[in-house]
Amino acid sequence: MKDLRIYERMPEWSAATLPHGFRRKHRTKEGTWAQLTVHAGALRFTHLDADGEELSSRVVDAAAGPQLVEPGVWHKVEPLDDALRCGLVFLCDPSRYLEKKHGLTAPHSEVRALLPTLEAVPGRSMLDLGSGRGRNSFFLAEHGLAVTALDRSDAAIAKLRQIQTDEGFTLSSSVYDINRASLADVIEGGVVDHVISTVVFQFLEADRVPAVIDDMQAVTRNGGLHLIVTPVTSAEMRCPIAFPGILRRGELRDRYLDWNILRYDETLGEFHKRDRHGQRYKAEFATLIARKPGTRH
Ligand SMILES: C[S@@+](CC[C@H](N)C(=O)[O-])C[C@H]1O[C@@H](n2cnc3c(N)ncnc32)[C@H](O)[C@@H]1O
Repeated sequence: MKDLRIYERMPEWSAATLPHGFRRKHRTKEGTWAQLTVHAGALRFTHLDADGEELSSRVVDAAAGPQLVEPGVWHKVEPLDDALRCGLVFLCDPSRYLEKKHGLTAPHSEVRALLPTLEAVPGRSMLDLGSGRGRNSFFLAEHGLAVTALDRSDAAIAKLRQIQTDEGFTLSSSVYDINRASLADVIEGGVVDHVISTVVFQFLEADRVPAVIDDMQAVTRNGGLHLIVTPVTSAEMRCPIAFPGILRRGELRDRYLDWNILRYDETLGEFHKRDRHGQRYKAEFATLIARKPGTRH
């Protein structure tokens, strides 16, 4: 069987309490498996097609063991006697656990793609600047990095801490306004190996961006990596959303000319935010991966 992880457990149900929604045609969400276990009594499990026509049906009792229902498969269950006691759990691929359980979106694709590069360089401390609720922080913590998550939103940091407690992550976090450009005050020891910041810079005060980048660079140990993903604007491809701190094409790269730029590109991408026609806003996004010169000490 595929390696799956439980993300939600329903209370035990009897014939009287089995919810009506389960007795009618229904299916699990995309990427969600259901596992039904009968502890006593029996129920009828029926596979249906999209029109509600029966495809197959079987009696499930305690001897049958757990019944796994694949994502998106139409079915219904009906109690067959008053002795029924059954349990239901929802499962997902382990990589989607935080998404399914806590509503976090998947880690940014550039953060996932950075892992092999991170593994090849020394240093395990990581700053997630503008972490939000921590989709990238948790991903990196799961892969052995000692993450500090900083965000100016109290609500985002509160949610991140709740997930951290629920899931037992080791990670430090603070409410911090990046515009302050005083990272040494909030990170342990005043230095860090690596910094990521995805889709954050556009929210900064425009005239603070140079100081913010200087500060990020100053607290980074020699040999450390920076990954920044941010929308950019230009006369040819104007960013459709009015952000205070939007960078111009090429501006980010120009702030890293003293570093070893491992990658810099500006490519068309999409925001999660949609316009009034339901279409996602599009803009050019700069992706920078750069390594601070010098030997780590
Ligand atoms: C689009 S979200 C991206 C969050 C996260 N980096 C991610 O990729 O999921 C932007 C985040 O930047 C944070 N942010 C914006 N301006 C900030 C500032 N001046 N200081 C700290 N965080 C800020 C917001 O609170 C928000 O959580």
